[in-house]
Amino acid sequence: MTPAAQALSEPELERHFEQVIERDQRIEPRDWMPDAYRKTLVRQVAQHAHSEIIGMQPEANWITRAPSLRRKAILLAKVQDEAGHGLYLYSATETLGADRTELTEKLIDSKQKYSSIFNYPTLNFADVGVIGWLVDGAAICNQVPLCRSSFGPYARGMVRICKEESFHQRQGFELLMTMMRGTDAQRRMVQDATDRWWWPSLMMFGPPDHDSPNTAQSMAWKIKRHTNDELRQRFVDMTVPQAEALGVTLPDPEISWNDERGHYDFGEIDWDEFKQVISGNGPCNAERLAHRRAAHEDGAWVREAAAAYAAKQHT
Ligand SMILES: [Fe+2]
Ligand SMILES: [Fe+2]
Repeated sequence: MTPAAQALSEPELERHFEQVIERDQRIEPRDWMPDAYRKTLVRQVAQHAHSEIIGMQPEANWITRAPSLRRKAILLAKVQDEAGHGLYLYSATETLGADRTELTEKLIDSKQKYSSIFNYPTLNFADVGVIGWLVDGAAICNQVPLCRSSFGPYARGMVRICKEESFHQRQGFELLMTMMRGTDAQRRMVQDATDRWWWPSLMMFGPPDHDSPNTAQSMAWKIKRHTNDELRQRFVDMTVPQAEALGVTLPDPEISWNDERGHYDFGEIDWDEFKQVISGNGPCNAERLAHRRAAHEDGAWVREAAAAYAAKQHT
């Protein structure tokens, strides 16, 4: 807090905070902010960080079985990027006063969530391409507006993350294009992976607007710029022509262009499935958390060694 800010009363500080938001300026870590704003951000950014870290697992499953050295190098780099995204985001939560160790403990104790999408299995190598195309594609739709989020460190972190996500999306699409130009068996793999990932990708945008109680406040604070349904529609509009270019069929017979709305219509999402997966009962929830917990425990000696080394440097 700056000396000038210390002299202000709480209502004055609150008015200043609201003016910053109104003018589309950024709130920085040392600025005064309402407790609820700080709490909302810690929760959102931590969930985002957890998603990046847990999101390494489904694709990492294929690193040892990538079909060529080139594909292995690409996949390794991509999974490593996701680790980097997680680390930037945990750093952003630290600027809000959160403790990274506590957040990791909340994740492995199931007290904080991560994106539902990473609780689905990766069954064939085309899944790697479809994750890049659809999952990173959906992540981009969600995250590009976050580059204008009102909290400075989060917004700035998202700029770099989005650049890498769009690279991920293109590598996924390129992999699928290559497979679609291959054998019938490869084309079937791409279609099978598309069938399995399409609906879970739509669920990545979260519950429908009428069932998303926190959206209004997050939008008023300009943490969020668009509603879940707006972003989902944007993703569908972007993806349908890409599916046509690839030559795959999206598993929804209700997809059709609506001239009046200027958007693609699409079918009803199975929200019961979403609720099941988000509450821990998806196909891979237990496996993902067990793996994360084991990695955390196996890494204890590294953290201890790093802390001991850092302490030595300061003496
Ligand atoms: Fe990422
Ligand atoms: Fe990514």
